[in-house]
Amino acid sequence: MMKVGILTSGGDSPGMNAAVRAVVRFGIAKGMKIYGIYRGYEGLIDGEIEELDRRSVGDILQRGGTMLKTARSERFMTLEGRKKALTTIETFGLDAIIVVGGNGSFAGALELSKMGVNVMCIPGTIDNDLGYTESTIGFDTAVNTVLEAITRIRDTSSSHERTTVIEVMGRHCGDIALYAGIAGGAEAVLLPEEPRDVNSVCRKIIEGSNQGKQHSIIIKAEGYPMDSQELVKEISDRTGRPVRLVVLSYLQRGGSPTLADRLLATRCGDKAIELLDAGLMNKAIGQVDGKVLGFNLEKALAEPGNFDRHMYESVDILSQ
Ligand code: F6P
Repeated sequence: MMKVGILTSGGDSPGMNAAVRAVVRFGIAKGMKIYGIYRGYEGLIDGEIEELDRRSVGDILQRGGTMLKTARSERFMTLEGRKKALTTIETFGLDAIIVVGGNGSFAGALELSKMGVNVMCIPGTIDNDLGYTESTIGFDTAVNTVLEAITRIRDTSSSHERTTVIEVMGRHCGDIALYAGIAGGAEAVLLPEEPRDVNSVCRKIIEGSNQGKQHSIIIKAEGYPMDSQELVKEISDRTGRPVRLVVLSYLQRGGSPTLADRLLATRCGDKAIELLDAGLMNKAIGQVDGKVLGFNLEKALAEPGNFDRHMYESVDILSQ
């Protein structure tokens, strides 16, 4: 009987629970034993592991966060830490480890695979920064959360005829800012992929105001190379108009996963089990052209981001 461990690692994302549930239930249906590893790689080092049955993943499908807890493990970054993790894997007799997380977690899994451990990776991060897949689990929910925030902020910005800068997460990836900016009707988006000059943003605000625009919404990705407070001051100084800052921060990581994230998570869990059952290992599960498939882990990690320049350029046209 195949014994499979599952852990969630890095920043949590809505839909991680749905992925864990799918792995447990599809795995058991295939006759496997599934073990939950708590606190990501930390739990793998410390042996915080227990067998999960169908009922232990009940009532989590709709919950954000992760029932397995998560961590960013500094110890796992060391060879000593990874050796301890290997010992745990041998002690529990685990045949494979499923890792749900972002690129840092995938890199950890790749290191494990080089030590002879069978791994399978599921993309769980709000950042959407894994280039091999069209979407990561949690991205859709996070963007919808940002969108709702924009809609609310727009009301008050409009009433006060103000400019509001909204800082969103995404680490080095601007997708949350770009997608929410397009769908939320932002005047400008500031991304790490193509850092836009602040001057041009100010010009846009002044021109818009001269044409009767009541407010301006600027979405700034956290990876844009300028501090948000400084940006607000600069825009305010240059435009001579009031500017407010809203940092959405961890608000974006919580909440009940959307339909898209629940489905993606469930299909990724299903595929991970299907591939393990077929004897395939060291894959990154992802979605391409709507199909959920397994890709070579090392190559998947090396894929460049999916920056959509056309979408980026359309922000200016749409907001004129
Ligand atoms: O990777 C997810 C993410 O939320 C990023 O968008 C953000 O930069 C980072 O995690 C924050 O990390 P932490 O939870 O360690 O503060």
